Amino acid sequence: MRTGLKIFLGGFLATAGWLAWEWVPWQLKTDWDEEELMLIQSLSLDSLEPLKLDLSNSVAGSLEAAEFGHTLFFEKRLSANQSVSCASCHQPDNYFTDSLPLAMGIGLGTRHTPSLVGLSYSPWYYWDGRRDSQWSQALAPLEAKHEQGMDRTSLVNFILHDEPHLEKYEKVFGAISPDLKNTDLSNSPASPIGNSTEKETWQSFESKTQIEISKIFSNIGKALAAYQRQLQPGGSRFDDYTRALQTASLREDPKDSILNRRERLGLKLFLGKGNCVDCHNGPLFTNHEFHNTGVIPLPGELPPMGRFDGIRIAREDPFNCFGPYSDANPKDCAELQFARDTSEMVGAHKTPTLRNIAKTSPYMHTGQQKSLAEVIEHYNEAPTAMVSHNEAKPLKLRRSEMKQLEAFLRTLSAPPATDSVWLNPPN
Ligand code: HEC
Ligand code: HEC
Repeated sequence: MRTGLKIFLGGFLATAGWLAWEWVPWQLKTDWDEEELMLIQSLSLDSLEPLKLDLSNSVAGSLEAAEFGHTLFFEKRLSANQSVSCASCHQPDNYFTDSLPLAMGIGLGTRHTPSLVGLSYSPWYYWDGRRDSQWSQALAPLEAKHEQGMDRTSLVNFILHDEPHLEKYEKVFGAISPDLKNTDLSNSPASPIGNSTEKETWQSFESKTQIEISKIFSNIGKALAAYQRQLQPGGSRFDDYTRALQTASLREDPKDSILNRRERLGLKLFLGKGNCVDCHNGPLFTNHEFHNTGVIPLPGELPPMGRFDGIRIAREDPFNCFGPYSDANPKDCAELQFARDTSEMVGAHKTPTLRNIAKTSPYMHTGQQKSLAEVIEHYNEAPTAMVSHNEAKPLKLRRSEMKQLEAFLRTLSAPPATDSVWLNPPN
């Protein structure tokens, strides 16, 4: 045979083979065995347990606290330049993210803004888990210079002298002492973690005043946490599929109308060859743990220590579960007490949820990866970590498989299952 014809025939056969593999409805490839069916149901929102109370926050389940937290979440006057609120970065229209690689508040931050939808289930907060409750987390951005940049005392002073906020506060947490109300705090920025002048002023306060200010401050965090508990994930196409699978015959997929073949093949990879479900498991697609996945640091930056530092910081936090502002009994603080702090935690970051992942780009703790395709490429290669070791192994996925995995990840989006009142600024 002439060479040209050989090449033509070879090419033709390869293309035809590929087409058959990709497009012929080859049922066997997408059928589920018992183990896969169980895994699929474990990822369904139907498997999500009711949200447990946070014992360190006695108002976690209070609607009035959530309403107060709602106003605080959108309140720009809780920032040094009166123009940044929680919602500036955690934007409701963006699944409570900001589309930026690194967050921008009063200044440029060093981390990517995570979504807050379904986050109340997490035992740890921040990429490195340096806070052990949603209320103690909420206090940090208020005082962080690059975020809202307030100081604790001015913030409390604002609540004391703004009638609508004071009224809401006292309805939830009871009356503030007349002593504090009559103390003039208006021109004394002060905080135990502020700049040197703020620290000095703080030191000049009587300890009773310090405690009272920090108590009000911690209550602000508790109301913000109560609000965020309203931000529950909604049922996605994937969840519709899990429901359909329960009623369909075990060996057969429900019709293409819910998940198409490519998406189902992606799900199969997610459970199998991709090993994604090792860490992204349960109805929120996270094991709530910390792993080193070899994400490369930003150019010119040292690789972060991640959870290794995070757990130490959480233990030292005066607002942690054991601290004087926590409502928990020390025996309820097992998460903090028994958290692992071994060298495995070097460079480990929190496994983020994959719900709504198609809507929350860019990705990873510094937003290094722009697209889902880039993330999947990263997992496929599993580069050597710059500190400690990458727990994920190279996957050797073919290009078509990477597309399938991405198609599956795109089935996980749905608007939050939350009354629209909570998704808009309060009246
Ligand atoms: C300037 C932008 C910005 C502002 C303002 C801001 N955040 Fe964040 N938020 C971030 C970034 C960035 C992170 C991740 C930081 C990290 O992990 O080190 C984060 C993390 C969080 C987390 C933990 C997420 C997780 O996956 O563990 C919660 C909860 C949260 N913010 C709530 C709030 C609340 C409540 C407010 C207002 C009091 C607020 N944020 C203000 C950018 C912001
Ligand atoms: C060893 C545990 C582990 C495995 C296995 C794993 N992940 Fe992850 N995943 C993580 C952690 C941890 C992060 C955050 C890493 C960081 O920012 O440094 C992450 C981040 C992501 C992100 C970005 C999320 C965001 O909001 O920025 C996506 C998307 C993702 N993983 C998808 C996958 C897919 C798809 C697979 C399978 C191919 C997979 N993961 C396997 C632990 C894992």
